Amino acid sequence: LKHFLTLDGLDKTILTEILDRAESFLSMGEQSVKKVPLLRGKTVVNLFFENSTRTRTTFELAGKRLSADVINLNIETSATSKGESLLDTLKNLEAMQSDMFIVRHSDSGAAHFIAEHCTPNVAIINAGDGRHAHPTQAMLDMLTIRRHKGSFDGLKIAIVGDILHSRVARSQLQALTTLGVSDIRLVGPKTLVPSFFAEMGATICHDLEAGLKDVDVVVMLRLQKERMKGALLPSESEFYRLYGLTEETLAWASPDAIVMHPGPINRGVEISSEVADGKHSVILDQVTNGIAVRMAVMSMAMSGQLQSDDSSVTRDE
Ligand code: CP
Repeated sequence: LKHFLTLDGLDKTILTEILDRAESFLSMGEQSVKKVPLLRGKTVVNLFFENSTRTRTTFELAGKRLSADVINLNIETSATSKGESLLDTLKNLEAMQSDMFIVRHSDSGAAHFIAEHCTPNVAIINAGDGRHAHPTQAMLDMLTIRRHKGSFDGLKIAIVGDILHSRVARSQLQALTTLGVSDIRLVGPKTLVPSFFAEMGATICHDLEAGLKDVDVVVMLRLQKERMKGALLPSESEFYRLYGLTEETLAWASPDAIVMHPGPINRGVEISSEVADGKHSVILDQVTNGIAVRMAVMSMAMSGQLQSDDSSVTRDE
């Protein structure tokens, strides 16, 4: 059993193996991924301490298509409301012979904390922790890019919006640099795209036209107000005027650029409906690819082919 907490420290070979395995699941059923027995007899528990539509549902579908027994613990109606601690909740779930916990939490470092305190018989998969990491989202984004563009060679990619609070942007940056993409632009206002991100191998752009110029891939991110805690930020209308992706601003990108967004999208804040629903958009392909990528990660973790840990992250409360 191995954990999957971050992309930090995973090399190009293992990322490519995740993508190839996900591709093999997709090619089994073209539009709908077929059921395989790889996790038969295993118990997977979805532990979502923060809300989710796409990630929770696609992990559940992925577990079921791998033939696992999948439990969704409803945190709001669980005994945590009676004062039970996180660790006591986990110990009880371990006692039910769980094999894998899928963990989402608003605290950065929460999945790592849980991995440290659980028995080694349970694999922990990070489904998004605070602003730290969202590794399966980044891998489904990589699969979507590879399926539409063929390879990562020579690609120009812009990630636009609230980079500062985005676990998706951090994991995407790690994946893209590991896969050899050298032209990665982080685009947004100074308050949301601080200069220290340049140390992660990206170019910082505070001007949307310069950021989008001739790019092959545009990734839009929403303003993550739940993580902002009183920071000085532009209003939604000002943000849309300066950084919104519309048919006019998308024209700065390559004519065959694809438009991505991890969701949830805020129409008229970071992206127009015409673009979100338009011919360049691959936003719903990302969701479909998420099932195959999560099947790949879960099956590789269960057979011990992954080890992704990050002892540098500390849990914020
Ligand atoms: N992309 C993403 O994490 O979406 P959810 O919050 O709906 O899971």
